[in-house]
Amino acid sequence: MIIETVKTTLLNCSLVESDIIKYKNRVQAIHDALPQYELTGWMDSPLQDQDALLASIELVASEIRACADVLVVVGVGGSFLGARAIQEALMPYFGLAKSGIEVVYVGLNMSGAYINELLAYLDSKQVYVNVISKSGGTMEPALAFRTMRLYMEERYGEKATERIIVTTDAEKGILKGISDEAGYRQFVIPSDIGGRFSVLTPVGLLPVAVAGVDIRSLMAGAKRSAEELIESDLSKNDAYKYAVMRHMLYEEGYSIELLASFEPGLNKFHEWWKQLFGESEGKEKKGLYPSTVNFSTDLHSIGQFIQDGKPILFETLLHFHEIEGDLKVPFDSRNEDGLNYLSHRTFNEINAISKQGTALAHAEGGVPVIQLELPKLDAYHLGYLIYFFMKACAMSACLLEVNPFDQPGVEAYKRKMLELLQVGEMAK
Ligand code: PA5
Repeated sequence: MIIETVKTTLLNCSLVESDIIKYKNRVQAIHDALPQYELTGWMDSPLQDQDALLASIELVASEIRACADVLVVVGVGGSFLGARAIQEALMPYFGLAKSGIEVVYVGLNMSGAYINELLAYLDSKQVYVNVISKSGGTMEPALAFRTMRLYMEERYGEKATERIIVTTDAEKGILKGISDEAGYRQFVIPSDIGGRFSVLTPVGLLPVAVAGVDIRSLMAGAKRSAEELIESDLSKNDAYKYAVMRHMLYEEGYSIELLASFEPGLNKFHEWWKQLFGESEGKEKKGLYPSTVNFSTDLHSIGQFIQDGKPILFETLLHFHEIEGDLKVPFDSRNEDGLNYLSHRTFNEINAISKQGTALAHAEGGVPVIQLELPKLDAYHLGYLIYFFMKACAMSACLLEVNPFDQPGVEAYKRKMLELLQVGEMAK
């Protein structure tokens, strides 16, 4: 069977198609209710005419590529994870894409060592900055931006204004005020799209365009996904099917979902997925704990637990049939390692066989596997998959009866940290 987009299959499990279909009415009711939530602008945006927006992003991206060696993206959570995921999935493992420059990230932690080293690294490079924050007030990016802004002013004087691009809300927030006052160029994060659902807006698109990703293909894939997954019928909507499968496994008592793939370039994509599901579902003492592994590397570490450990997890296996770039196993006349029998195969073929072997071994170990297959790892199919996961996540959180679009737990951390910082200041 030729897979055009995503094919979802449940393996190693007593649950069958007819169990999934039992969710038909619940899924239909959630599907109908979803648009009534706040922050669901991401559902329709790939279907809208994006041409002018994409053109303006491409224009700024080509200016940055022409005038800088490095773009420093300042952001945390949903304001950087998506861009970094796409960049790492589609760009070369070593060196840069011909069509792109280096893109690095700051404001995702509060490590003094990290930012200090970054500033030293930038000294010999030409730099642009893209600060991304929807609220405009998150501590990590705010501290990093304060530092980067002063750094840019010291290096470029008045010209720093041209080299700082702001991506934030159209109206609200401290960053918006700073940006208007300073005259920085701005991209808007639509007010009806929340952080972890914002990767297909300028939040993700500008950094990846600078890195050399074809954002038109990415958005074409997302559009196809939005068109196909508009379908409310569970049997025709693989995102809903995936949502129901993971929900059924949750109901069966599994508490961890392990997203697994066989391409190391997807590690940061895993991180994006982890935030999407973790922040959307982990509420009211409910939710699957989203964790990730990269095979075959992790088969030699956590693989033991997956196979034989406490049966608390199931696996979601992400498989792209075609990966660009491959190498035949070389023939060596000495054959001291006895591996000549593999010399007619390529590395990617062996990797695919190791995927089959892993699924079979995990079947023996009683680990349920949801398999998500896509034809090719490229911008188009990644765009498709990003939208697929967002749609699945919204459905899955609603099946748990939690609001997919808020994050009260994150707000609690922010509040506590601010209290401690302010108390610390008063005590001085
Ligand atoms: O998904 C979310 O809303 C969060 O992860 C935010 O993206 C993150 O907290 C950063 O927020 P902001 O973009 O407002 O700085």
